[in-house]
Amino acid sequence: MNIAIIGAGNVGSALGGGWQQKGHQVVYGVRDAGTAKVNGAASRLAPPEMAARDAEVVVLTVPYGALASVVPALGDLSGKVVLDATNPVGPGFTSAAPAGSSAGQQVAEWAPGARVVKIFNTTGFNIMLDPRFGTESATMFYCGDDAEAKQTAAKLAADLGFEPLDAGPLSQAQLLESLALLWISMAIAHGHGRDMAFRMLKR
Ligand SMILES: NC(=O)c1ccc[n+]([C@@H]2O[C@H](COP(=O)([O-])OP(=O)(O)OC[C@H]3O[C@@H](n4cnc5c(N)ncnc54)[C@H](OP(=O)(O)O)[C@@H]3O)[C@@H](O)[C@H]2O)c1
Repeated sequence: MNIAIIGAGNVGSALGGGWQQKGHQVVYGVRDAGTAKVNGAASRLAPPEMAARDAEVVVLTVPYGALASVVPALGDLSGKVVLDATNPVGPGFTSAAPAGSSAGQQVAEWAPGARVVKIFNTTGFNIMLDPRFGTESATMFYCGDDAEAKQTAAKLAADLGFEPLDAGPLSQAQLLESLALLWISMAIAHGHGRDMAFRMLKR
């Protein structure tokens, strides 16, 4: 699969490295190829709009505050699968997204016609590098309004070693972003550290 990862920081490089190992073609959309963290010989770097243009899947791994300018600058994303991994983290681990909305829903507004899936936001980049805990895998929750796009997202999560779990329509992004705030606050402020992940039990 041709994947454009917009941003080559902690999350972008964790996802891209895992997908490259699984045989996907990854290009990183970066604003400055000279300072991008991902600079290995196997990594392709391009300006964000060029990276997105030829990709089947576009993955957003920039800070929430950059989304409003970065997403429209990617050009026409209609029909593409767009995976939003961002978290709108406000003061005191509150949501910085507008009340009643979420980063995922805002992405869908800024990219008309794109098939947006919220995913890869509810755990740390360190877990994305290795989602296995003994014999179990961390759950990767995702949500979106396009069934086929969600299948693609689930496959890409499974390729990294996650157990993907459909959390419902894109409006559920508000809850997935709240779940991320829980993870971040527990990791940073409440003594649990980053080496933890959510796992769903069902019967
Ligand atoms: N860190 C985690 O464990 C984690 C987990 C889940 C989700 N998230 C979310 O994922 C996103 C990325 O987090 P991260 O930890 O990977 O951040 P990071 O290491 O700071 O990387 C951010 C990337 O975004 C790029 N960027 C920033 N502003 C940009 C702009 N205006 N235009 C184009 N590119 C821009 C940066 O490029 P430059 O190098 O040029 O600045 C960098 O490549 C955030 O929304 C975060 O909330 C983070």
